[in-house]
Amino acid sequence: MIYKKRYGQPFDTESVVGSFLPMMETIPYLTKEPDGFSYAMEPQDVLYGLGENVRGINKRGWVYESKCSDDGNHTEGKSSLYGAYNFMIVSGKDTFGVFIDYPGKVTFDCGYTDMDTLRITVAEENYDFYIIEGESLTDIVHQFRQLVGRSYIPPKWAFGNAQSRWSYMNEDEVREVVANYRANNMPLDAVVLDIDYMEHYKDFTVDAQRFPRFADFAAEMKAQGIHLVPIIDAGVKIEEGYDVYEEGVKNGYFCTNQDGTPFVAGVWPGRVHFPDMLNPEARAWFGSQYKVLLDQGIEGFWNDMNEPALFYSPERLKAFFENAAALSRKDNLDQNDFFGLVRSVMGLMNAPEDYRSFYHDTAAGRVRHDRVHNLYGGCMTRAAGEAFQTLRPGQRTLLYCRSSIIGAHRWGGIWLGDNHSSWSQLLANIQMMPAVQMCGFLYSGADLCGFSEDTTPDLALRWLEFGLFTPLMRNHAGAESREQEFYRFTDVLPAIRNMLNLRYALLPYLYSEFMKAALEDAPYFRPLAFDYPADPDAREVDDQLLLGEGLMVAPVHTQNAHGRTVYLPEAMKMLRLRSVSDYDEEVLPAGRHYLPCELGEVLLFIRPGHTVPVAQPATNTAQLDDTALTFWRFAPDGRPAPYRMYPDDGVTTDYNKPEHWRIVGQ
Ligand code: GLC
Repeated sequence: MIYKKRYGQPFDTESVVGSFLPMMETIPYLTKEPDGFSYAMEPQDVLYGLGENVRGINKRGWVYESKCSDDGNHTEGKSSLYGAYNFMIVSGKDTFGVFIDYPGKVTFDCGYTDMDTLRITVAEENYDFYIIEGESLTDIVHQFRQLVGRSYIPPKWAFGNAQSRWSYMNEDEVREVVANYRANNMPLDAVVLDIDYMEHYKDFTVDAQRFPRFADFAAEMKAQGIHLVPIIDAGVKIEEGYDVYEEGVKNGYFCTNQDGTPFVAGVWPGRVHFPDMLNPEARAWFGSQYKVLLDQGIEGFWNDMNEPALFYSPERLKAFFENAAALSRKDNLDQNDFFGLVRSVMGLMNAPEDYRSFYHDTAAGRVRHDRVHNLYGGCMTRAAGEAFQTLRPGQRTLLYCRSSIIGAHRWGGIWLGDNHSSWSQLLANIQMMPAVQMCGFLYSGADLCGFSEDTTPDLALRWLEFGLFTPLMRNHAGAESREQEFYRFTDVLPAIRNMLNLRYALLPYLYSEFMKAALEDAPYFRPLAFDYPADPDAREVDDQLLLGEGLMVAPVHTQNAHGRTVYLPEAMKMLRLRSVSDYDEEVLPAGRHYLPCELGEVLLFIRPGHTVPVAQPATNTAQLDDTALTFWRFAPDGRPAPYRMYPDDGVTTDYNKPEHWRIVGQ
């Protein structure tokens, strides 16, 4: 059951699609405070949700802010990352979900100020508040997802292996990546193009020197089973003669200063204007620009820098230079001068003052950006998603984005932004997956091997051993990181190949579970406590996940480990997989087990009564034969359960045909 209460006059975020809901007279469970709500927690209460955020699966013990932030340093001290996910579940003495539909800043103090108090603070009293009651944690998430609408579904090829780097600089570098994958017998479905494919970082352009015949090149790649996935950034370069800039200015489609002139910020191309994604007309116009690339054979995109990220505003940059010039005339800079200077240069980026200085023309009138900040990225996702419906009717288009808000999950997926090549970030990836998926972002994944700094062969392999289960499986590296395409790790090459092949072999299961999750608002990844609520030990498990109806994963995420301890809430069949055809299996009783798991091995657990369809590996998703299946099962009562598989065409949006379902493994 979902209850709603309206405070003040909320801005319509369109996050919710559910129709009429009973209005609450009074709020159950929580105490209303002048600026939000509070809840007295019992020691055993657990807090789930809040999407992409640091720390463990249980959010208790830290303070989080919904404030979309361009921050590539995902340390434990951070309170916000790129998205805003105002959905959480309190589980314990009382069990209920909470959703705050508000596009500005919301703070979730989960026992940070006062260990036993959850305090939710909303920046202004104009929002819709929801309480969700259900029979179980899964039921609460199910109802919540019905409230906010069906999750985005990408084409099937988007479940294949995608290779990325900032940036492959020209056609030949892309060809080389593909050739190396093929030469090493490693599957690949996509190569991702970062900002350097554009001409001077101008959206919807292609650099004529680097990619002289882009449409031909896209066709050449497609003939080899490879999709190109170009990036689109939020800011539009200010440059006379650039049609997107000129059209935007002429029609008033950019965000404005208080005096109505277009707001200027510095991002990759230097000075840009931000398209007013909250203005429906401007949004439709921005979305229509994707046609330029669609017409050249592109079928997938990633949207970036859409918090929106802002390196500087010209005014504040000028003030900084003046201050620096004054300091340069001093004979001696003491620590206050020096660190003040350092702080002022760093403070230019994503400055709150700048977010308070520009405006949107929305259906509800003119709104200052900071009041609706968290909607910007989601509206960029929507710009693209809505446009694809018109430009490619009936077809699926790949789209994943950095900044997001609940509601945007209907138009695209997300990747988890600029992580680091570190073991703690691999663990963070494991822990964030169920939290973002609870909020509807099913198509999601992190930069495998890590984005910033340098990965190592063992980290790359261990990360792949988890990443092979995530819907978006993309290896992406920063411009200064060592080369980390999977074929570079010669020491562990056979193991990497086996793991990539395992992903493809498991696709009949992974894709079917994804489709069930999307079409039935069912879970893909979830914490153990969701299915074993009465088990206090299951509640404590922070690094194992249930995956679809029949599997549990327990990735190794520490350096130099030769195994790990795994908690089984009930007896399960363990597979220790070196490849799809080379594995040990053993039925293990409920309880805690130390299980050897060498580099190049994956621990996978089949739950009682479940069957997993397994295909032969293939070079890409198009080659995958889902009619020649073998089955992994755990049938303790001797009766193997059939598996409900979803073998559709993977490209059209005609999801609901009954013939898409096939019962296999009887
Ligand atoms: C941002 C993105 C990153 C990308 C880079 C250059 O940092 O998060 O993925 O590689 O911009 O476009």
